[in-house]
Amino acid sequence: MIKNDLFLRALKGETVSRPPVWMMRQAGRYLPEFMALKEKYDFFTRCRTPELAAEITVQPIRIVKPDAAILFSDILVIPQAMNIDVEMKPGVGPWLPSPVRTAQDVENVRVPEIMETLGYVMDAITLTKEMLEDEVPLIGFAGSPWTILCYAVEGKGSKSFDQAKGFCFSNPEAAHKLLQKITDTTIAYLKQKVAHGVNAVQIFDSWGGMLSPEDYREFSWKYIDQIIEALAPLTEVIVFGKGCWFALPEMAKSKASALGVDWTCSPEKAREFTGGKITLQGNFDPSRLLTPVPQLKNMVWDMIDRFGKDRYMANLGHGILPNIPVDHAKAFIDAVKEYENR
Ligand code: CP3
Repeated sequence: MIKNDLFLRALKGETVSRPPVWMMRQAGRYLPEFMALKEKYDFFTRCRTPELAAEITVQPIRIVKPDAAILFSDILVIPQAMNIDVEMKPGVGPWLPSPVRTAQDVENVRVPEIMETLGYVMDAITLTKEMLEDEVPLIGFAGSPWTILCYAVEGKGSKSFDQAKGFCFSNPEAAHKLLQKITDTTIAYLKQKVAHGVNAVQIFDSWGGMLSPEDYREFSWKYIDQIIEALAPLTEVIVFGKGCWFALPEMAKSKASALGVDWTCSPEKAREFTGGKITLQGNFDPSRLLTPVPQLKNMVWDMIDRFGKDRYMANLGHGILPNIPVDHAKAFIDAVKEYENR
């Protein structure tokens, strides 16, 4: 049994005394303890060494004390396992030397055996669970197939992912083949994560908001929904689509337990779009953590009032930024904890 089960109770829609809180990218560059390990080990070494991944996962639990842990890893370990090279270039971000650009490239992408290629992630989960001693739940995650395709085709981060979109629109057959391979791999991967002890999974559709509502349905949601259908019988599923407010009504009809919202959608609109029944997560602007602390706390309480304390998980609207002082990250989390007695 998990000692602090607020997060799991909110996911199930149970009545809670206050909402749970965690932060996307909470294991990250705003923490000096993380930066110390980043100086010593390159990115994928940190991902592939269970002792390092577990240590980085529990750092925020000790320092800022959220109600859930999220495993330190990356969404790009999936393309790596599928035979697509991925490097993390310091100061640049993801770099894929041989992006997928043709139907033949798609043929060369494999659907891997998970334990053979990603066993290190499962070892990190086992170790993290031991270190957490059931204090808080552990979240596992994967990128959405569309977001993974964006990197696989573009070969790097982008403001618009023109090449990825161009590939889908000019060669839809190959694009759908690639999306299905990523979906099959992701389902097998998340099932293994559940078997190894994660208490919930989150799907990050970071680039879903690049698509029109029609293209979103065809190239992103269709595949996310397959993952939800496969995982919902086994665990709680959270879907976070950055910039995907337009898809919330359709998402709310799925078997997902919760939906993430970014700060460009008001709590009222998010509730209206989702019919008021499903748990929502979000949506504090990460840059708003720079607000002076007393005002910051009032903004957090206002956010909770507007979403409502039940069927709600306080979070940022996207990942925390490196320029956030640790005491402001802590003030965000403390404000949610103080909501009951404010
Ligand atoms: O949330 C957490 O604390 C868990 C760890 C986590 C990381 N990446 C570690 C990481 C999670 C959940 C991710 C997901 C991820 N990775 C996403 C989806 C979420 C989002 O923010 O939209 C995406 C798009 C990626 C791909 C990725 N990985 C990019 C674009 C970058 C470079 C840009 C950046 O923010 O630095 C990474 C690297 C990365 N992944 C870092 C961390 C802590 C920072 C680099 C480092 O530590 O060397």
